Amino acid sequence: MCGIIGYSGGKQAAPILLKGLERLEYRGYDSSGIAVTDGGAISVVKAVGKIKALDEKTNGGKTPHGTVGIGHTRWATHGVPSDVNSHPHVSQNGMFAVVHNGIIENFAELKAELIAQGVKFASDTDSEVIAQLLQYYYEGDELDAILTVMRRISGSYAVGILCADYPDVIYAIRKDNPLVVGLGANENFIASDFAAALEHTHDFVQLGDGEIAKLTAHAVTFYDGDGKPLKKTPYRVDWDISQAEKGGYPHFMLKEIYEQPRAITATVRPRVKGNQIVLDKIAFDAKNVNRIEKIDIVGCGSAYHAGIVGKAFIEKYCRIRVNCELASEYVYSDPITDNRTLTVIISQSGETADTLAALRLAKKRGSHTIAIVNVVESAIAREADDVLYTYAGPEIAVATTKGYTTQVAALYLVGLKIAKIKHTVSDARYSEMLKELTELPDKITRALADIEQIKNYADEYAAHKCVFFIGRGTDYAASLEGALKLKEISYIHAEAYAAGELKHGTISLIENGTITLALVTQSALYSKMLSNIKAVQSRGGTVLSVASPKNEQIRENSDGLLLIPDCDDDLTPILTAVVLQVFAYYVAAARGCDIDKPRNLAKSVTVE
Ligand code: AGP
Repeated sequence: MCGIIGYSGGKQAAPILLKGLERLEYRGYDSSGIAVTDGGAISVVKAVGKIKALDEKTNGGKTPHGTVGIGHTRWATHGVPSDVNSHPHVSQNGMFAVVHNGIIENFAELKAELIAQGVKFASDTDSEVIAQLLQYYYEGDELDAILTVMRRISGSYAVGILCADYPDVIYAIRKDNPLVVGLGANENFIASDFAAALEHTHDFVQLGDGEIAKLTAHAVTFYDGDGKPLKKTPYRVDWDISQAEKGGYPHFMLKEIYEQPRAITATVRPRVKGNQIVLDKIAFDAKNVNRIEKIDIVGCGSAYHAGIVGKAFIEKYCRIRVNCELASEYVYSDPITDNRTLTVIISQSGETADTLAALRLAKKRGSHTIAIVNVVESAIAREADDVLYTYAGPEIAVATTKGYTTQVAALYLVGLKIAKIKHTVSDARYSEMLKELTELPDKITRALADIEQIKNYADEYAAHKCVFFIGRGTDYAASLEGALKLKEISYIHAEAYAAGELKHGTISLIENGTITLALVTQSALYSKMLSNIKAVQSRGGTVLSVASPKNEQIRENSDGLLLIPDCDDDLTPILTAVVLQVFAYYVAAARGCDIDKPRNLAKSVTVE
């Protein structure tokens, strides 16, 4: 997705904008640009391709001069990647420059209206309409023109605006697209996410939907959609910029894989007080828990996969029906939900458009919503009735790792909390599971100690074109994420399949050398898995098993074995996830893929 950075202060803006855009590269983009005012006219520099091209065009940030500016990395939605389609877009008379994230859904009719008034457009983008509309409605009062434009456009947007008449001011507006304001010392920032400004400030304000921010070097003022001043409360982001840096690892993804022990500790430990689970401000008590007739878990991609793992766990321990839904399907499925349904919304970024839409629909139909989110004050975190943060820290790699495992850990906490209240888990088992949960970080560390063995298998299998992941029960749930990890960073077609289902058709694809990763951690299903593995091998398939020590004998019937540390069968998805993340990482490395920024993908999909 696109990235926005803006600066108003006493320093030269260009180098700050370039550095901020570099920190937003992980969001995925195809072009970039900056606009800077130097007390009057707006200077714009744009470049298709990587930020390096923009850096060269600005002589390493030495030009253009000026202490106020906005910058943008573009992820093309309307108009091919090109200099002219890159942002910032400038109004025909040069008065306004804008950067935009999102989609202006009614841009075509607005563009036709303006062209009929004689306005000349330079680009094929929807975003340029914002700049031209500002010029069209501007009669000397910038806020007035902005308010009018906000009433005209529909769709999703986060916008930074410069006006040549007000060269020391940046305006920012947003709807359904994230934008934060960074509050510095005699300097202020706007950014798509705080990573872009974190080296300058830890104090931020989340701009709300329909709200407006006006920044100068020394002051920030907020307005509501009617132009009335608004009081906003800053919050502090305690992440330091090194957390958003690679820290010596070759890729953010590997760094974040290794951060999982700390991330799980940070997510679980503060919530286990003695023998009790305390879920922040979430008011789980007998009254509201016993009213729950079903739980809907909703998310996209890996967040959805975490939900599938959570479903198996919560149904087992709470004896409540759990549906796990893809957000993009849930929104258009006319869901059966009401105040007897608890809806758990899962999202690492907290900005995924499909998931945000699902949250709004569940709330509209009366369901109580809990968001499991990693980014503080993100849209989903702010709009849900309750939020349970995963404290994974900034996740930069597009392929989630610690985001996913901390989501699963959070779901375990929710499940055990509800089960305890409903008395559907014995005190002994509850205490045992709490102990196992708090021991997981050390087991992840141990699983990572064997990374060379995982790498060897990855190197051996990297040339394959198709890989299957099979499992039963919670292993099947875990295999979904293993397949996605491999697909999204190595571009190998990978498919997760319920092991018992393979024989109902798909096994026709197994031939000599087809690689299958078999997850064998559920002791109660060991013999079933054994026969499924044999069925694959009898057709020439190669099977790499991922097993726990209690099922180590599977080695005799596998072509390879990856062992996870011993842990309770119900908690193995976090450990198998770590092993499969490493496997996918090294397969992608062997294939020379762009591991942190896989082709076609974005870290946060803020369009439906
Ligand atoms: C995971 O590796 C992918 N990057 C993707 O499936 C992601 O999980 C999905 O887009 C949901 O993102 P979210 O958790 O930020 O909502």
